[in-house]
Amino acid sequence: MTILLGDVAPDFQAQTTEGPLSFHEWIGDTWCILFSHPKNFTPVCTTELGEASRLKEAFLERNCKLIGLSIDSVADHHRWAQDIQETQGQTLNIPLIADHDCAVASAYDMLHPSSDTTFTVRCVFVIDPFKKVRLMLTYPASTGRNFAEILRVLDSLQLTDAHSVATPVNWLPGEEVVILPTLTDPAVLQQKFPQGYKEIKPYLRTTPCPAAGT
Ligand code: BEZ
Repeated sequence: MTILLGDVAPDFQAQTTEGPLSFHEWIGDTWCILFSHPKNFTPVCTTELGEASRLKEAFLERNCKLIGLSIDSVADHHRWAQDIQETQGQTLNIPLIADHDCAVASAYDMLHPSSDTTFTVRCVFVIDPFKKVRLMLTYPASTGRNFAEILRVLDSLQLTDAHSVATPVNWLPGEEVVILPTLTDPAVLQQKFPQGYKEIKPYLRTTPCPAAGT
C-alpha cells in the first residue's frame, strides 16, 4: 500500500535496541522522525546515526522523537553501536529497529527494487502526534541525509500548525514567513498577526516569523 501525505502512518510491533515497541504507543503525543538505513556497518549510515544521536536533544526540544531502522538483528545493531561510538565520538542514543523480515520496510515502501534489489533505500517520514504522515523524503543509499534540513522542515510544519503560516523558499527559522492564502478575514488577520503584514500580491503576504513555541 502506497503511503501518501496525510495518511495515518502504519502501526507495527518491532524489536529495537531499546527493547520491543508498539510504534503508535511509542510515539504517544509527540512528533516522530522514522528513518531507514540500507544496512548495518555501512559508511554513510554510520555517520548519519552519529549525527542523529548528536541532534536528539534538538529534536526533543521540538517535542519530536527519532527512530532508525535497519534490516539487521538487534545483536548486530548493538555491535554496530560500538563502531558508531568509536568512529563518530557519539553514543547511539535513539532506538534502532531490527527489521529482519522487512515487515516495516514493506509497510512503508522502503524497498525500491529497481534502485536496489536487497537493501532499503534511505527514507525519512515525519509523523505528527495524530500519527499522520506530514513529510516523506527518499534518498538513494549512496547519499547521506542532511539532519539540519529535517529539523528545518519540522520547524516549518510546527509553525504552520500553530500560526496558519507557510515558509517560503530556502526559509530558515526566524526569517519572514508567508500567510496562508486561505486566511482572509481581516479580524482574524489582525488577531493572528498583530505585528502586521506586507501584501506584495493578494496571495503573497509576508509577516515576521512568529516566536517558536507560541
Ligand atoms: C552506506 O550507508 O554507506 C551505504 C549503504 C549502501 C550502499 C552504499 C552506501
